[in-house]
Amino acid sequence: MLLTSYQLGTLTLPNRLVMAPMTRSRAVDGKPTAETATYYAQRATAGLIVTEGVQPTAASQSGPFTPGLHDDEQVAAWRVVTDAVHANGGRIFAQLMHGGRIGHVEVAGHQPAGPSAIAAGTEVFTPTGMKPAPVPRAFTTAEVADQVTAFAQAARNAVEAGFDGVELHGANGYLIQQFLSSSANQRTDGYGGSVAGRIRFAAEAVGAVADAIGRERVGIRLSPGGQIQGIVEEDVPVLYGELLKALPDIAYIHVMATTDDEVLLGLRKAWPTAFVLNPGGQIGPDESTREQGERWLANGADLISYGRAYLGNPDLVERFRLGLPLVAADRDTWFGAGGGYVDYPSYQH
Ligand SMILES: Cc1cc2nc3c(=O)[nH]c(=O)nc-3n(C[C@H](O)[C@H](O)[C@H](O)COP(=O)(O)O)c2cc1C
Repeated sequence: MLLTSYQLGTLTLPNRLVMAPMTRSRAVDGKPTAETATYYAQRATAGLIVTEGVQPTAASQSGPFTPGLHDDEQVAAWRVVTDAVHANGGRIFAQLMHGGRIGHVEVAGHQPAGPSAIAAGTEVFTPTGMKPAPVPRAFTTAEVADQVTAFAQAARNAVEAGFDGVELHGANGYLIQQFLSSSANQRTDGYGGSVAGRIRFAAEAVGAVADAIGRERVGIRLSPGGQIQGIVEEDVPVLYGELLKALPDIAYIHVMATTDDEVLLGLRKAWPTAFVLNPGGQIGPDESTREQGERWLANGADLISYGRAYLGNPDLVERFRLGLPLVAADRDTWFGAGGGYVDYPSYQH
């Protein structure tokens, strides 16, 4: 099944493998480089590539050396990347990632802001190493609306840069999940409190992006029940069930295996369009496997995303097709400049 084609909105994917979003911390002045274009172009046989997290505004940058999509130079730099992927026959979405409270004054030059003035209780990446996550400033109600607008503008920029669409990062404890979470969100305006209040930001951001670039070009990533970066969610099936009802019929939801299979299957049944499943979840000890992918396709998923397997195996599709061994990427080169980026070759026969 993994190697059969799939119609995703207006895109025909030649197979059901998605390259999962992975931050690589190799941007220069907020821009992808020529190496970034090579890196994604090498992986263009994936059914769909989702880029590393890209900040929609300068202020929403979460960690060091990540790229943005908020000025003309960034759009031009991304154009080189999307052209390279398309020249190799691929398809690519940009992941729009707003860090919210997961940020640091040393990264974006200001105190980060989130739903409420509550620190994550974990550590964040800074240019000078890991530091305790700061207490964020709480967005005013007007500022929450500004973040919705910012997502829509970044999505327009993504289309101008040649992306086939965008994925909103609603997972892993960043801004959108902070709003969903009862630990990070203790707002008393219409964006907090009840389930209806906590899902509102996600629904408005997705709605604004869909209005801006067309819903067939939009996905959202979710980590239901995922507990990293200080996130606590209550009543996960209800929270996510209501969220799915509040979303427009976008191209896909990209769900990480961060809760029970039963809950995941319930979300699958409740969602009308494409369901992308990431078996590995939040960087567990073992990376997603081919067998897990096939099992999830048999259980109703439409597409399977692979993260770590794509770092060391640019030709992952071909390796699956021919049953070739996989290379494990060196963890020391996941983030930061230097090797371990474009130097993993295709299988040498
Ligand atoms: C180096 C690295 C960077 C990551 N960065 C992101 C990111 O920017 N956005 C995101 O949604 N997930 C990110 N993830 C999570 C992956 O997309 C994926 O969910 C995780 O690696 C588990 O899947 P796997 O077992 O197939 O690797 C990252 C993972 C790794 C290993």
